[in-house]
Amino acid sequence: MNSSQTIYDLIGEEYIRLLAKLFYQEVAKNKHLKKLYPEDLAPAEERLSMFLLQVFGGPETYSEQRGHPRLRMRHAKWEIDADMRDHWMNAMLVALDQLGLEPNIRQVMIGYFVKAANHMINHG
Ligand code: HEM
Repeated sequence: MNSSQTIYDLIGEEYIRLLAKLFYQEVAKNKHLKKLYPEDLAPAEERLSMFLLQVFGGPETYSEQRGHPRLRMRHAKWEIDADMRDHWMNAMLVALDQLGLEPNIRQVMIGYFVKAANHMINHG
């Protein structure tokens, strides 16, 4: 993995979109997470896809449509404690594992998600 290459360059839009899709399949199965999310998960899947495309070096459609991410602020309306962080993180890990990525790439992505998920804790 060359340092000038982004995750987006390496895995492409399709895999990033697939990650968001698989993640929301896990959300749908987890009652703790599910109760926080809107009934229709499709628009949420699209928002997460756009965000991840941007974060991993792809097009900045998320910010064009949604403005500055300010993710911690956008998550302030839900009580996110360490348990909820673990539910979220586990759903993302299950989704990531299904992509069957090269270990280095998977590890970089996990590193990002662990940091971001910890940053979202706002309770207890
Ligand atoms: C730690 C536990 C987390 C919980 C419980 C949580 C929960 C939620 C919920 C309930 C929504 C609303 C779904 C929607 O309608 O879009 C949401 C939105 C979102 N979450 Fe999280 N989230 C967590 C962590 C994260 C992390 C780590 C990221 C990024 C890596 C993230 C990225 C997003 C994005 C991009 C949105 C859409 C924001 C928008 O544009 O409105 N979330 N999250």
